[in-house]
Amino acid sequence: MLTGIILISWLCFLPGSNGEVWMDTTPIKQMVKAGDTTVLACSVENLGRNVVRWFGPGHALLFNGDYAVTPDRRFSLTHPYISSWNLVIKNVKTGDEGLYICQVQSSTETLTKKVTVEVQVAPRILPSSSSEDQQVLEGSDVTLVCGATGSPTPKIMWHVLKDSEPKQLDTGEQLVLSNISREETGVYTCTAFNAVIPQAYRHIKVDVEYAPSIIVKTQELSQERGKLAYLECTVVGFPQGRNYWKKDNRILVRDWNYEPLDYPLNATTNVMNLHIKQVEPPQGFGVYYCVAENKHGTAVGNVTLNEITTTTTTTTTTTTPAPTTTITTTTSTTQSTTGSTIRLSTPGSPQPSTVSTTSISSQRPPTPPVHTLSTARPVITSPYKPVVTTGPGYEIDPGNQENGASIPSPCRAIILLVFTVLFMI
Ligand SMILES: *[C@@H]1O[C@H](CO)[C@@H](O)[C@H](O)[C@H]1NC(C)=O
Ligand SMILES: *[C@@H]1O[C@H](CO)[C@@H](O)[C@H](O)[C@H]1NC(C)=O
Ligand SMILES: *[C@@H]1O[C@H](CO)[C@@H](O)[C@H](O)[C@H]1NC(C)=O
Repeated sequence: MLTGIILISWLCFLPGSNGEVWMDTTPIKQMVKAGDTTVLACSVENLGRNVVRWFGPGHALLFNGDYAVTPDRRFSLTHPYISSWNLVIKNVKTGDEGLYICQVQSSTETLTKKVTVEVQVAPRILPSSSSEDQQVLEGSDVTLVCGATGSPTPKIMWHVLKDSEPKQLDTGEQLVLSNISREETGVYTCTAFNAVIPQAYRHIKVDVEYAPSIIVKTQELSQERGKLAYLECTVVGFPQGRNYWKKDNRILVRDWNYEPLDYPLNATTNVMNLHIKQVEPPQGFGVYYCVAENKHGTAVGNVTLNEITTTTTTTTTTTTPAPTTTITTTTSTTQSTTGSTIRLSTPGSPQPSTVSTTSISSQRPPTPPVHTLSTARPVITSPYKPVVTTGPGYEIDPGNQENGASIPSPCRAIILLVFTVLFMI
C-alpha cells in the first residue's frame, strides 16, 4: 500500500522533479471544423518565474503569459490544471490555419510545443464556376463543370439518372460528353465531398436536341369515295416544332373536311393525324405529306390514299368469285371501348386495291389507337361469381374449428372425477 503511494507519487512528480522546467513538446496536428471551438493544449511543469508564450501563424505573439497581445477576442487561455496553458480558439475560421507555438524560455533552454491547426471546411459548389442547365445539339462535345471549395480540397463525382437509377460516371471537376447522343439527355449531378459533412450537390439538366425524323406506319391506305379516312405519321425530334400536312403543295388547315391533330406522347415523340371526313375525288386521293420542322431541320413523310374501285358484278366466268366486301370486326374482349377496328378485305379477281383500316366512330378517341397497345392487363369479368360449396357431412363449425384441441366434455368429467378422488385421498 505504502509502496503503491510512493510509486504513484514518484511517477507523478517524475517530470521536473529535479526542479527544471518541463514541457510536453510532442508536436501535434489538430483538425478543426470551421465554426467550431478548439483547444490547443500546452502543459508546463515547474514553470517557476518563467513565462509561457503562445505564438500564432507567422510567429505572431498571441499571449505573453496571461496577457492577451492579440486583439482578437476569439482567442483565450484556460488553466484547467495548474500546469495547463491551453489556448482556446472560438469560431474557427479558415484563416486560423497554421502553426501555433507554445514556448517557455528558461535561463538554460527554450522549450516549444508545436500545434499545427488544419481547418476543415465542408464542400461548397460555386454556382459562378459551375455549368448551368443546357440545350445541346446531338453530336456535339459537351463539358460540364462543377467548381467546388472546401478543406481539404473536395473530390468531385458525377452521376446521371438513368431509368430513375443513378449511374456513376467520371470523377473530377469536369465531365466530358463527347459526340453526345439523344439517349444522353438527362439530369447530371456532381457531388463534392471531403472529410467534412455535408456533401454538396449540383444538378445540371442537359437536353440533347436533334432534327425531326418521321415514321410512317401505314404508307398506303384505300378508301371508297365519300368515306372518312385517318392518316398518321409519328414525329421523333427535340424540341418539337411545327408539324403540318400537305397535299398538292397546299398546307391543309382545319376546315369542314380536314382535321389535322397532334398527339404528343412525350417531349420527343408526337403522333400527327389527319382526319378526312369525306374523301372525294380527284383531290381527295393521292399522296399526302406530313411535314415536321424544328430549328435543326425538316422531315417529310408520305401516305398514299387510294380509291377502292367497287367494280360492278361482271361475272364473265363462273370460276371467278365476284368481288365482295367482307367486313371482319375484330373486337377483342381485352380491348377497352376506344372503338373497334374494321378490316375491309376484298377478295376477288382481279384483286382490288388493298386493305384499309378505319375507325367507325367519327369522334376521335383522346389518344391515337396505335398507342392503345397498352400494358394494361385484360380484365376478365365473369357474370358468374365463384361459389364455394361444402359437401354433406363436412360442415365446419367455426367455434370448434378454432379451438380444435379442446377436451370433449365426457373427458373433462372423468378428469374432474380423478382429481376429486386424488384430493379426497
Ligand atoms: C457520333 O456518334 C454516332 C452514333 O452515336 C456515330 O455514328 C458517329 O460516327 C459519331 N461521330 C464521331 C465524330 O465520333
Ligand atoms: C417517347 O415515347 C415513345 C413511344 O412511346 C418511346 O419509344 C420513347 O422512348 C419515348 N421517349 C422518351 C424520351 O421518353
Ligand atoms: C414516300 O416515302 C418513301 C419513304 O418512306 C419514299 O421512298 C418515297 O419516295 C416517298 N414518295 C413520295 C411520292 O414522296
